[in-house]
Amino acid sequence: MLRVGLLVVATCVSLAAARRSPNADTVEKWVKDVNARYSDNVLEDALLDVPDLIRKYRYPVEVHSVTTEDGYILEMHRIPHGRDANNVPNQKKPVVFLMHGMLVSSADYVIFGPGRALAYVLAEEGYDVWMGNARGNYYSRKHVRLNPDALLSTAFWKFSWEEIGSKDLPAMIDYALAVSGEKGLHYIGHSQGTTSYFVFGAMRPEYNSKIISMHAMAPVAYMAHNQSPILNFISPHANRIESLASLIGIGEFLPSNEFTQQLGSKYCNDDALTQPICSAVIMIMGGWNVDQHNATMLPVIMGHAPAGISVRQLAHYGQGIAAGHFRRYDQGSRIANYRAYGSFSPPPYDLSKVTAPVFLHYSDSDPLAHVNDVDRLFRELARPTKIRVPMASFSHVDFNYGINAKELVYDRIINLIKAIDASV
Ligand SMILES: *[C@@H]1O[C@H](CO)[C@@H](O)[C@H](O)[C@H]1NC(C)=O
Repeated sequence: MLRVGLLVVATCVSLAAARRSPNADTVEKWVKDVNARYSDNVLEDALLDVPDLIRKYRYPVEVHSVTTEDGYILEMHRIPHGRDANNVPNQKKPVVFLMHGMLVSSADYVIFGPGRALAYVLAEEGYDVWMGNARGNYYSRKHVRLNPDALLSTAFWKFSWEEIGSKDLPAMIDYALAVSGEKGLHYIGHSQGTTSYFVFGAMRPEYNSKIISMHAMAPVAYMAHNQSPILNFISPHANRIESLASLIGIGEFLPSNEFTQQLGSKYCNDDALTQPICSAVIMIMGGWNVDQHNATMLPVIMGHAPAGISVRQLAHYGQGIAAGHFRRYDQGSRIANYRAYGSFSPPPYDLSKVTAPVFLHYSDSDPLAHVNDVDRLFRELARPTKIRVPMASFSHVDFNYGINAKELVYDRIINLIKAIDASV
């Protein structure tokens, strides 16, 4: 236990020391090919932040700031219309809201570039695209009062994906609807972006009427069959890791940092002999299929991830693996749970309250969203549909980084959204 704790602590300390902004001074000098698809220069894209990256590829972008009821200041990124098609500004369009997974950010929906990344594909198809950023990540490390970098205080970091679901999602969704003037939106999430949605639908059921449809890519709620070596390693120690880290003032895990950015550009590029090691690390972290893996993109992926989470986010997942439940954060003792919830064990999230239609896009070999766990989720949701990715080897990170993610997943989601919009 102590060794794991110290490892986490040492990693946080060494990485936190190297922070800096990937913001480029100007993007103008990079704009060469207006019709560029995918990434036209991976080493440049590794260093641009999301708004600059979108500008570089000549898409319209807006940056919005939203404050949650408990004071977290979140940054949202919007692509209001397309570049090549559906490109007339200020036209009313259906809204699609995208929510990222753990340790990443809105970058996941743009780094693979025009023609391939989900945000651009949706904008070309005629949608008003809003991307959220969870509290604590690179774009949302702000609070009206609390300081994320406070020495020896982890007050800012006392949250897990429950608060992302119960507080961040309502604030960001209300904001996107208010600005766009729409009554409802389509939600697409990946991994933790689905966990937080299930919490949102269960704890804030009044919001279900604002969700026209929800698309869960690699849905994660129950984790009893989880096969991620790292999460399984952590799960028995989840609570002790959090209390130990918090004792010495550490609440953040794997923040965005220059160290991994440099590592990615130097050691993971196409000319680096060490590139296979980078591939292996991501495979161990998230699980992927070798055939779906484009190693050329590693510097860009590592330029934008990890983007920072709270230690408690990891601990809460660890509890879910150890206990086999999908329930609220275990405060560590019966008394503490009683004080927080009025019961000795943490209450489960009531999935029957998630009443908006949910499409579970899952795959057979996803180690983090195992088919048996997806099945249990499917049985408990109010209006679920299961959609299997038609490639048995498709894996967890392939939903964002897989070579054929567009054909195998995005095109089907867009067809479903179009059919739903046409029927109302
Ligand atoms: C891999 O990424 C590079 C850089 O974005 C791109 O040029 C190439 O077409 C991609 N390969 C595949 C098979 O998608």
